Amino acid sequence: MSNANRNVNTEKLSSARFAEATDAFVEEFTASVGFDQRMARQDIRGSLAHAHMLHSIGILTTEEWAAIEQGMAQIRQEIDRGEFVWSIKQEDVHMNIEARLTDLIGVAGKKLHTGRSRNDQVATDIRLYLRDEIDHIQSGLLRLRQAVLQAAERELDTIMPGFTHLQVAQPVTFGHHLMAWFEMLQRDSERFADCRKRVNVMPLGAAALAGTSYPLDRQLTAELLGFSRPANNSLDAVSDRDFAIEFTAAASILMIHLSRFSEELVLWASAQFDFIDIPDAFCTGSSIMPQKKNPDVPELVRGKAGRVSGHLMSLLMLMKSQPLAYNKDNQEDKEPLFDTADTVLTCLRAFGDMLPHIRAKRDNMRRAALQGYATATDLADYLVRKGMAFRDAHEAVGLAVRLGVDSGRDLSALALDELQAICPVISADVYDVLTLEGSVAARKHIGGTAPDAVRQAIAAARALLQTES
Ligand code: ARG
Repeated sequence: MSNANRNVNTEKLSSARFAEATDAFVEEFTASVGFDQRMARQDIRGSLAHAHMLHSIGILTTEEWAAIEQGMAQIRQEIDRGEFVWSIKQEDVHMNIEARLTDLIGVAGKKLHTGRSRNDQVATDIRLYLRDEIDHIQSGLLRLRQAVLQAAERELDTIMPGFTHLQVAQPVTFGHHLMAWFEMLQRDSERFADCRKRVNVMPLGAAALAGTSYPLDRQLTAELLGFSRPANNSLDAVSDRDFAIEFTAAASILMIHLSRFSEELVLWASAQFDFIDIPDAFCTGSSIMPQKKNPDVPELVRGKAGRVSGHLMSLLMLMKSQPLAYNKDNQEDKEPLFDTADTVLTCLRAFGDMLPHIRAKRDNMRRAALQGYATATDLADYLVRKGMAFRDAHEAVGLAVRLGVDSGRDLSALALDELQAICPVISADVYDVLTLEGSVAARKHIGGTAPDAVRQAIAAARALLQTES
């Protein structure tokens, strides 16, 4: 392209190395300040720690360090008040803040970048940002798990059908079903805690890629910023985005869990199941059908799971085949990360707000458990206790179920002589196992659906959360 055709920005030269100004479109195309200004507070925090350390090793005078502290305080105020003027001429959050600092305090501002590169700076900012977001997500997860425990306690004795293949399988308690959700959320919390360990490592000191010739005290900077340690290898420090991938992976699994809870709520709220009532505050109506009450909140959470796993794919593909060390590609990591954190936080909030208000329609759940021969396995187990081999018992119960289907009756409604005609070892005590209460109460081992077992699971879960809060 000849200069005549190019829309050249003559106000700014990128550096003395450049003989001509950046093309105006390229300036816009390569700028990230539109989105990375979100990390301004982390950027300032990182710079203040770096300045503190530079002073401690004698590179900044006490006056210069004080000027940087004071300039940064003003910049933070300008940002808080929405008065800071962001400019794409300064490309990104780092250069915008540094340029403003130099405007405000002069030459001391120009010394801040000693022994540092935007490559280690940006990696530090993202890690500080993600560490904060993980902590917020953990609060949301804690609140939701507490709500699940409360609901499980309330629904300890509520009997509902348990499903496999979405066909009625065996009776379970609703409390037990809710505790399955708890387990999923518990693993999510553990995954984020584990991810945080690898987020919490400090890149500063890696500079552009090879480290720096200044005698930086990386240990001090790491301590000032609350990082567990400095990164081990400078090349890896500026290029590593594993921690971002791990974060979106943990977030994706969490969102998949929330989508599964959502799906169950949507099904259960339908007229066909009618197991629960979702309060009006979490539903909306239809613009055309006056009778409709739609479970929008769980539907939307279900939908948002897709975009978060999309972000995981974006980050995986972003890193695929990237040579060491830093590449401009990495600027593309931010928008998926920000949106992942925002989406997860809003979905946790929606679920945490909604769950305590969901009401179980216990009679309907019980009625549904009575349909579909949910106690057939209990009958087979009963026959085994009476001395039959399990496969023979399975066969005999199949005949009993057929009799029930043909005559439109549940197993518990078959007469004793009818059952004995199928299998003579059956006696009157069979009705104890054919009831829903008998069926669930029998599953009282660790992890079972019996109210006693669920009560113990809830107590253990409560003790676990105690250690977290
Ligand atoms: N805006 C850049 C990013 O988000 C900052 C690092 C740029 N480094 C560089 N050498 N161009 O990754």
